[in-house]
Amino acid sequence: MASLIPVGLAGFGRYVPEKRLTNQDLEKIVDTSDEWIVQRTGIRERRIAASDQVTSSLALVAAQQALADARMSPEELDIVICATVTGDQPFPATACRLGLDLGAKRAGGFDLAAACSGFVFASQVAAGLIQSGQHKNILVVGAEILSRILDYTDRNTCVLFGDGAGAVVYTSLERAGRGELLGGSICMEGGAEGVLAQPAGGSRHPASTSTVEQKQHFMKMGGTKVFRFAVRVFAELVKNVIDRYGLDDIGVIVPHQVNQRIIEAAMEQLGMPMDRVFTNIDRYGNTSAASVPIALREAYEAGRLQKGKLVVMPAFGAGMAWGHLLLRW
Ligand code: UT7
Repeated sequence: MASLIPVGLAGFGRYVPEKRLTNQDLEKIVDTSDEWIVQRTGIRERRIAASDQVTSSLALVAAQQALADARMSPEELDIVICATVTGDQPFPATACRLGLDLGAKRAGGFDLAAACSGFVFASQVAAGLIQSGQHKNILVVGAEILSRILDYTDRNTCVLFGDGAGAVVYTSLERAGRGELLGGSICMEGGAEGVLAQPAGGSRHPASTSTVEQKQHFMKMGGTKVFRFAVRVFAELVKNVIDRYGLDDIGVIVPHQVNQRIIEAAMEQLGMPMDRVFTNIDRYGNTSAASVPIALREAYEAGRLQKGKLVVMPAFGAGMAWGHLLLRW
């Protein structure tokens, strides 16, 4: 069998829309308070896409930054993968629009729908395609405009989520010269459609006057179930990495930015101090598939990625689908 090609992270980028929606703004829209939101979630504000922006427009800015960082032209890309649950439309894939707007003339592409775990899963798909020698240069973007599927009369959901995009360019480790992708995990537990979902608009509940009247095109969530699930799998995923590599090898944990309390509870279960984890949830809320790549880029800018040490990226969400990505910086 031919030997596997080591994969590296050549470049990464992030983009968030300019408009800020603060807790104080939300106080005027729904029955909530800054105090409740900060205490229960750690979120202070989130970004909201402008009315003329679509998911591919957010993805485009993050992707251009990632390509510039990688010193790679769009024509060099072989594959574009867009992880999203709020694509420009159900089909064609948002990746097709993104590839066109980028000028990725040679690239093939597709979307990957795994909600908050989308970026972590898509990165592992990209890694496999490069390791096998099938493709050389792959762009993975996590991009969401969740504000378009939120019901701003439902305080259980509308305070938690925001819009944004993060992008990574993967290539051979030899060319990238940094960030070796060591692998990860992809897990799921079906039958949880009611826990966290956009119920209508697919084959189960096609769009109709009644689905619109019943607000079935908005996100629905049973928050407490998601909370318990997220703490459990976050701790499990990181513990597996500790068992294999040892605690000292972990430089930083860059988790899905789900809720500050979930992150704190999982870190407490692991017996690890909060200075081992990177969070930016106070500024962006939960941006689903975009949250890990945005946080990864910001952790880098903050000097939190330590040379030679592991970066652990656990993610978890609707499905229930969860997994992690492991990088040696
Ligand atoms: O990527 C995965 C996406 N999902 C998530 O991130 C959600 C994970 N879950 C959570 O983050 C938490 O469960 C929440 C933040 C959603 C809720 O926190 P909680 O501590 O689990 O609160 P709760 O659901 O037990 O609700 C407590 C109370 C309820 O009132 P009653 O029934 O006790 O009178 C809610 O109606 O808080 C009420 N509540 C609110 N009050 C003010 C719920 N949302 C709000 C709100 N403002 N925005």
